[in-house]
Amino acid sequence: MPRLTYVYEDGSRRTVEVATATNLMKAALAHQVPGIIGECGGAATCGTCHVYVAHSTEQFAPPSPDEEDMLEWTASERAANSRLSCQLTLTRADAELVVHVPSKQV
Ligand code: FES
Repeated sequence: MPRLTYVYEDGSRRTVEVATATNLMKAALAHQVPGIIGECGGAATCGTCHVYVAHSTEQFAPPSPDEEDMLEWTASERAANSRLSCQLTLTRADAELVVHVPSKQV
């Protein structure tokens, strides 16, 4: 199963295993991972699932125009590795991903 690690500003981390084809926002909510809200349910219209991708063995498509637009409005500053976690899906069973969770989502 793909493994996701969410890292926080204080250095703490939480690793979960999820079924393939699960997006990172839904994985966080299903495992009660703090710091990911997912207010719009994955429509790329709220920005409350913002993460900074630190390391991934999965290849992601570049952000869609809608994701690009929403990343301009996130509560925490956008960085070059900013993504909306609802738009990221792990498709390989051996995928590993590390993301940093922003200090604020709203
Ligand atoms: S859940 Fe709203 S933008 Fe990702």
